[in-house]
Amino acid sequence: MSLGLKSVDLPHFSQNNWTLDDVLPLDYAVPPQVLEQVPSGVHENFCTLLSRDVYSEGDAQVLYDHILARQAEMSAAFVAMLKLWLEDEQKHYQALRRTYRCIAGVSFAQMDRQFAHRQPDFKPIQRVLRDEFTLLVTLMFDEIGSVYSYRRDLQEYYQHFGGAIRRIGHHLVRDEGTHFGNAAELLQTVHDHRLYEVPELLRQISQLEQSLGQYHCSFFLDHAQEQYRFPPEFNATIIQIILARLNLGQRPSQKSLQRLWQWVPTGHRVVPVRMDQAAGV
Ligand SMILES: [Fe+2]
Ligand SMILES: [Fe+2]
Repeated sequence: MSLGLKSVDLPHFSQNNWTLDDVLPLDYAVPPQVLEQVPSGVHENFCTLLSRDVYSEGDAQVLYDHILARQAEMSAAFVAMLKLWLEDEQKHYQALRRTYRCIAGVSFAQMDRQFAHRQPDFKPIQRVLRDEFTLLVTLMFDEIGSVYSYRRDLQEYYQHFGGAIRRIGHHLVRDEGTHFGNAAELLQTVHDHRLYEVPELLRQISQLEQSLGQYHCSFFLDHAQEQYRFPPEFNATIIQIILARLNLGQRPSQKSLQRLWQWVPTGHRVVPVRMDQAAGV
């Protein structure tokens, strides 16, 4: 397959090789003795968390279609990367549907109905969809945010529901990290002449996310709907991680990285999953 680049210029994309059916079969049920051991409140919170995460993973398809409508503007390498990315995100959608079904008892048909009612709106995030370069920087921002968010959820939720569900959490963390790395590779290979723009663009992306107030079903910036779940310096630290990955700055300290997924607001045992639970934080 020709990617429209000389072979020496081809970025190296990675993809983790795992099969959903091997990890979490379609009809999987969490063993009752595992459910009995789940700490109080964790099961209910996990249902709430999944009710959002399932669909935001599914939104990858609409973002992909939206971007590919402008395929002529994009490099062949970018399109190739995006195809791998979509495969993974679709697998995440299926994985979370299975997880949601066996944790919350919501049927696939109910999820289909819920998903069909969504109305994605790309207008509020138009600024980050400007071109391939802004898309890649936004993708790095989004994916590294998901890495730390899933890492926390793995510790607080996935790990309590047995080996299969725990492994799903691990795969999510690893795949989102790979998406982050692939976007970085492409930026460094094809867009190195624009890397000087990255710090200012990241500042704008973070500002945009903070001003959105809600998630518009467009895959990007889904953390806009749950900023109360992250420490106040979350965006500043992930921006540092991105800049370090692109050789534009120093990597944050180990302590700052740990705070991204271990921080809990004062007065709480785990990070609240709903805004009303977080009131007063
Ligand atoms: Fe994902
Ligand atoms: Fe991802």
